[in-house]
Amino acid sequence: MKLFEVYQLWDIEPVKGSDTTLWDKNGEVYTDLYGGHAVISVGHCHPHYVKKLSEQLGNLGFYSNAVQNQLQKDLAARLGRICGYDDYALFLCNSGAEANENALKVASFHTGKPKVLAFRKAFHGRTSGAVAATDNPKIQAPFNETANIVFVPLNDLEAVDNELAKGGFAAVIIEGIQGVAGIYEPTGDFLNGLRTLCDKYGCLLILDEIQSGYGRTGKFFAHQHHGVRADIITMAKGMANGFPIGGVLISPAIKPVHGMLGTTFGGNHLACTAALAVLDIIENENLIENAAKIGEFFEQAFKDDKAVKEYRGKGLMIGLELKEEYVGLRNRLLFEKHFFTGAAGAGVIRLLPSLTISQETAESFVKAWKEITV
Ligand SMILES: Cc1ncc(COP(=O)(O)O)c(C=O)c1O
Repeated sequence: MKLFEVYQLWDIEPVKGSDTTLWDKNGEVYTDLYGGHAVISVGHCHPHYVKKLSEQLGNLGFYSNAVQNQLQKDLAARLGRICGYDDYALFLCNSGAEANENALKVASFHTGKPKVLAFRKAFHGRTSGAVAATDNPKIQAPFNETANIVFVPLNDLEAVDNELAKGGFAAVIIEGIQGVAGIYEPTGDFLNGLRTLCDKYGCLLILDEIQSGYGRTGKFFAHQHHGVRADIITMAKGMANGFPIGGVLISPAIKPVHGMLGTTFGGNHLACTAALAVLDIIENENLIENAAKIGEFFEQAFKDDKAVKEYRGKGLMIGLELKEEYVGLRNRLLFEKHFFTGAAGAGVIRLLPSLTISQETAESFVKAWKEITV
């Protein structure tokens, strides 16, 4: 059997990793400023992460949600304390799309309403509800088409007001910072305005922090830069450093009902152990502060760079929009200088490195960039 080929792949096969370094099967060394799409939050193969997962695997790898699991309770307690939503409840699942799918369902169950307001260029995942709230017709099958999702431009509060006034909305869903779109931030005024409008029209505010959360922007969640509180927050990616997991934080105003949500694999022993190990490392190594510090360094290094048309983002969620003559730089960074980076179309390079990235590694990237853009 061959693979169902839906991905465009680089002809590189990493076989070993350590922090921000990768080795391919030929022994070539690369520096990873992409983290497998913002997933590697505490570095590849961090010793504490490896130890905790290995120990857990030797004790119990999996049991389903039919029995008590103290690891889930420990994770909820730790996460609540660290992220500042202590009084919220945690539902665990397996991916970002699944987290959003469950968030949309919870909002609809709670309000009894069917519609959702989303934003142009948004990306929320590929399952039915999440992809319907994703503004990209190319990845929506006819089966996913629904009149229940309405898109308006980001940062256009008047458009939001006009739509919500029509009634029937269970939720507004918004990314903390739009990632796949190319790193576009909602303004603080806009987010606070959304909060007010959601309250006015009796719908819930869902913050998709799947890419922008988990400390990446220099706060635990990106929306916390603006002092706004959401009713539901979704997370995944950096949460367990590559072990599949997703989480939904749910306001205490929303009451659970047995059977309302469910999953076979979600919240299993290995996933919770991986997520707890990530929180240990984030706290012990002050990684949120490091994300802010190295982000500031990159901003200073790139904001007036000759190849960069616009520097966008916060902390270690960075979009470098290239001037036209520099489109293609990403491949040169990879093949000539051995740096993995992300992209949004051909014109934007995205930096989504591990929160452990050192000053030295950041400087080596800037040096390599400057050398090929002279
Ligand atoms: C903001 C956002 N939401 C949701 C998702 C979907 O996550 P997953 O691929 O884990 O389903 C992504 C993935 O890139 C994302 O960036």
